[in-house]
Amino acid sequence: MYSRLSTINSMPHLKDKKVIVRIDSDVDIKDGKITDDTRLVSCLETIDYLIQKGSTVVLVGHLGRPEKQYEVLDFPSTIPVYLKKFSLEPVALWFEEKFKGNLQDIKYDSFSGWKITDNLFLLENIRFYKGEEENDARFAASLAKIADFYVNEAFAVSHRKNASVSGVTHFLPSFAGLHLDQEISILTRIMENPKRPLVVLIGGAKIETKLPMVEQMHHIADYVLVGGEIAEQDKVLIKVQHEKIGGQKSMVFVADVKDNLKDVTPKSVENFEQVINIAQTIVWNGPIGEIGEDKKNEEGTKKIAQAIASSHAYKIVGGGDTLAFLSKENLLSKFDFVSTGGGAMLEFLSGKKLPGITPLLKH
Ligand code: 3PG
Repeated sequence: MYSRLSTINSMPHLKDKKVIVRIDSDVDIKDGKITDDTRLVSCLETIDYLIQKGSTVVLVGHLGRPEKQYEVLDFPSTIPVYLKKFSLEPVALWFEEKFKGNLQDIKYDSFSGWKITDNLFLLENIRFYKGEEENDARFAASLAKIADFYVNEAFAVSHRKNASVSGVTHFLPSFAGLHLDQEISILTRIMENPKRPLVVLIGGAKIETKLPMVEQMHHIADYVLVGGEIAEQDKVLIKVQHEKIGGQKSMVFVADVKDNLKDVTPKSVENFEQVINIAQTIVWNGPIGEIGEDKKNEEGTKKIAQAIASSHAYKIVGGGDTLAFLSKENLLSKFDFVSTGGGAMLEFLSGKKLPGITPLLKH
């Protein structure tokens, strides 16, 4: 795995340099307010370090999965109403408060964004641009043009081959942020020799990312528990896939869902609890049922969260929705390690090389 990343500690001559810091600003926002800021807090140390060394920091991040439609030069001065919910303005306001800044709308080179302080800027949602998720080289180059160095402090999006995650590293000297480096080394240590039984619990949405992970996890886990949207939609597929894998050593349990398709049945919760009770290491990503709408549908996720929280196993959790739910329930502190990544955490733990991390390896 990755044992040696070039971190920002090895960056030369930071005085008067411009540094792009890719952050994961994909946070849970309700009524314009950020409900869980774990991902934002995780990049503060890196930002402070760079500013103290005399650099100007330009934060680049995304929020959700907006319709991507702009070229850099045709970005409108006012974002259309239907895209507003994907604007990074609440994130800009969060940074304004943290850094006691004075927020101003600006153009940074040809990108739209905000000036937070004299040496801290944030660009508007990078996924508004066509080139980002296409990993377009011209787009990556135009992003690279605004800085002297690139820093990845966004573990949670490091499994995406996007321009601001991997493309840009072809054009700028690139380094790992302090939190990203720490996250990689902790996850590596845990997975090299996990205490067994190792139970991996996969729920939530983003089925196209999670489904291959159910298969990958067969190779490392003793038990794979599957809930959430993926259990509801892909139960048969997962079973067929499981049977196809030769010599598998893990057991897979896919939850049954209630008739309303929004939560898992109490029987499935009980079955999952039994497995959780014998675990020595637990990795959890993704709510088991629907969360954030009707409290009644949160019952399954809540019971499983409580069972994990009171287990004596070594407990790792990751993923935006899961973290937001656990902080609302005051259970986040019961976990031994909180990863900022959801899909990225699962992909990393399954042994895959992540396109946002490989370019940061020491040569
Ligand atoms: C996440 O929330 O897992 C990351 O921000 C990645 O988001 P994505 O699945 O939309 O690429």
